[in-house]
Amino acid sequence: MQLTNIVVNQSISPEIEMPLSWTRLFYLEKEYGDSFFILDIKKFESNYQEFLQAFRAIYPNTHLGYSYKTNYIPKLCQSVNFMGGYAEVVSQMEYDLAIAIGVPPSRIIFNGPLKYSEDIERAILAGSIVNLDCLEEVDIVTALARRLPDQQIAVGLRCNLDVVGIGRISRFGFDVEGGALDDVFKVFRELNNCSVLGLHCHISSPTRSVESYKLRTQKLIELSDYYFQEKPPQFIDVGGGFFGKMNDDLKAQFDCYIPSYQEYAEAIAPQLKSRFPGNYTPELIVEPGVAVVADVLKFVAKVVGMKTVQSRQIALVVGSIHNIKPTLTGKELSLQVYRSEENSDHKNISPPVDLVGYTCMEHDCLYNNYSGQIGIGDYVVFDNIGAYTVVFKPPFIRPNPPIISYDSTLNEYDLIRRRETTKDVFSTYVI
Ligand SMILES: Cc1ncc(COP(=O)(O)O)c(C=O)c1O
Repeated sequence: MQLTNIVVNQSISPEIEMPLSWTRLFYLEKEYGDSFFILDIKKFESNYQEFLQAFRAIYPNTHLGYSYKTNYIPKLCQSVNFMGGYAEVVSQMEYDLAIAIGVPPSRIIFNGPLKYSEDIERAILAGSIVNLDCLEEVDIVTALARRLPDQQIAVGLRCNLDVVGIGRISRFGFDVEGGALDDVFKVFRELNNCSVLGLHCHISSPTRSVESYKLRTQKLIELSDYYFQEKPPQFIDVGGGFFGKMNDDLKAQFDCYIPSYQEYAEAIAPQLKSRFPGNYTPELIVEPGVAVVADVLKFVAKVVGMKTVQSRQIALVVGSIHNIKPTLTGKELSLQVYRSEENSDHKNISPPVDLVGYTCMEHDCLYNNYSGQIGIGDYVVFDNIGAYTVVFKPPFIRPNPPIISYDSTLNEYDLIRRRETTKDVFSTYVI
């Protein structure tokens, strides 16, 4: 859809913010309904390239594996494939999506704690990188290697490293300190058609600190030196879990430092550069999700009701906390309210106002204590909701709103997920 009838006084370039106004949102509402997501696809591509180049400038043999689970809108995944990135998937469902959008199997990294034997076998034989997580998966691979003695079988191993600042013992991968990783190497050494391609480690830590990435990279290199003495591994994969870009309001709500892409790259890439200075360099794989996608999605909801209860001012919007923070972060996202001039006649209540959602839950408050003017017919636009939102939203009370994609170079909006219907939600039930 091309909005030629709306005058926008800003020139369009991928670097500038998406030009929104009440009039533009009004037209979008006419087309798509009173709540919807807007994906800024060019911003995603620019984040992706900026993140990648920060690493490549130091260690050229770097590739990104985009974490599908963080936001698997197919248009994003297609864009990653187009830019040459890996699809980082953690289920057969995500693997199937990657294949459906044309990702070659060799560009798929299959991680995650639950993989069925048929899924593992199919992915390995198709040439995907399968990073094993537990001994049951090792058994599946050894059985495959024995069944197909003429076939070379190669896998990656997820390492469970003890790095500071996680606040708990991670459940993922093979315990390095406890000897589980060593046991796996022994099992594979006894099979002459089974080898380990590389080492993987993803640990999410609350502070996502530069220090923790320095340490995990250092430990992965030490493991690589120990286990790959004849020839370096094909890859060293440091996982994801990096902070993305955010505005100062949101930053101020974290009690830790928010590193930049550059700072993360400087924590990881120089270590590989100095350890592998020669011609043969293992591939550095980085698996960002949040870092590249968090700030590329907005959620728009119309204000449809206002009320005062004792001292509490309340505005009802056509959205829910499940749309913008289904993981209940406890943070207030950045918010813009777009007001129409006509709205000055409408009923207004004085701030602060709680912006509440359509569910029957008391905690369904999208924003607490909004301090500006707001009234029925206004649009609220939440920013920085690209990570763990559309993939997490349950079909609770209402079907999902549509997603439209904005292309800042063309100044065009396109529908990329239609509004769900009642039928969609109940189609899998026996009625
Ligand atoms: C193996 C793996 N890689 C990458 C990611 C992406 O993490 P984030 O979205 O925090 O960058 C995750 C998320 O849990 C993961 O499990």
